[in-house]
Amino acid sequence: MFETVTPPEPDKIIRLMGMFAADTRTGKVDLGVGVYRSPEGKTPVMAAVKQAEERIWTAQDSKSYVGLRGDLGYLDAMRHLILGQSVPADRVAGAGTPGGTGAVRQVLETVHRLAPSATVWISDPTWPNHPAIIDHLGQKRQSYRYYDAATGGIDRTGMMADLARVGRGDLILLHGCCHNPTGADLLLDDWQEVAALCARTGAIPFVDMAYQGFGLGLEEDAAGVRLLAATLPEVLIAASCSKNFGLYRERVGAVLIVTTGKAAAEGVLAGMNRQNFAFPPDHGARVVQEILGDETLGALWRGELDGMRRTMEGNRRALAEALREETGSDRFGFLAAHRGMFSLIGATSTQVDRLREVHGIYLVGDGRMNVAGLTPDTIPRVAQALAEVLA
Ligand SMILES: Cc1ncc(COP(=O)(O)O)c(C=O)c1O
Repeated sequence: MFETVTPPEPDKIIRLMGMFAADTRTGKVDLGVGVYRSPEGKTPVMAAVKQAEERIWTAQDSKSYVGLRGDLGYLDAMRHLILGQSVPADRVAGAGTPGGTGAVRQVLETVHRLAPSATVWISDPTWPNHPAIIDHLGQKRQSYRYYDAATGGIDRTGMMADLARVGRGDLILLHGCCHNPTGADLLLDDWQEVAALCARTGAIPFVDMAYQGFGLGLEEDAAGVRLLAATLPEVLIAASCSKNFGLYRERVGAVLIVTTGKAAAEGVLAGMNRQNFAFPPDHGARVVQEILGDETLGALWRGELDGMRRTMEGNRRALAEALREETGSDRFGFLAAHRGMFSLIGATSTQVDRLREVHGIYLVGDGRMNVAGLTPDTIPRVAQALAEVLA
């Protein structure tokens, strides 16, 4: 069956991971893949996670199946973390998924089943797996203008003009915070405008929440999705705990659906899980539940998450400052204003190739930089290389 098949090309981020691993140079710098790194260049297991795992190891006496939607305590903790008090619990259906990618997939496949003619509107640009999954499912998709490369901010006029064309029942895919790849986030006024537009047109917002706590803080980063949940009849949410709990490989995610048909939505989500993987992974979800359900562990985790956010903000400021000195201009000032792990640095693919080949600095081909991959040691060298290559 496979002899004559051409396997699909891995996407650009996965390809870059392979190239970085194969590079034997000692000074290579990985600013490609989206993982957090400490100032020492490590992606550590968070102390709160270690402690939660110890408790689970001691107390857990069975590894039997849980349920098709996963652990209900975990889902309730996620509802509370993301939606707070914005909407009553009896309006939110949930299901555990393998990571945020699994959640994106389950939401899109569910919509594809229930509303096959719906178009999914994605920001230009967006995380490459969004269009990849939409295309894999055979859904219709359109892009809305989002990033303004000239200012490093959002093209608000273009975005709202494009969204005005979205039809009733179509999805608008929004990044809850820390937009990937641009780092340019919607402000509360923008969320308000999107909510009003959805109320007027019947478009359904689909919020991908992969970086809560990496932008301005846990509560601040959820303000947009909470505003939508408080004002609209239906909101679809895909959440990931990969980054904010550092649980990347455990595959912890959740679908949350704000709806007036909670019981039916839960049945649909359970059925969708059953067809795709049956039971979602439990270990990481249990860790999250343990942390969010315990005051001491919760405080420890919040402190660690705050520390990660401050490190990323510090990297942004330090790189913007080093680039100001290297270039004598404020051309890269937008770096300090962006939020989360990523920014588009404004490099062409040829410049990205040169950064990698000559300087051993790895960025994604569209010029996306993971600022969390910087360390105090590498910032001066990266600034020099950027100033030289992007001159
Ligand atoms: C925008 C966005 N959504 C979802 C995810 C899903 O992450 P994971 O499947 O690792 O939880 C990511 C991770 O890179 C992301 O950037």
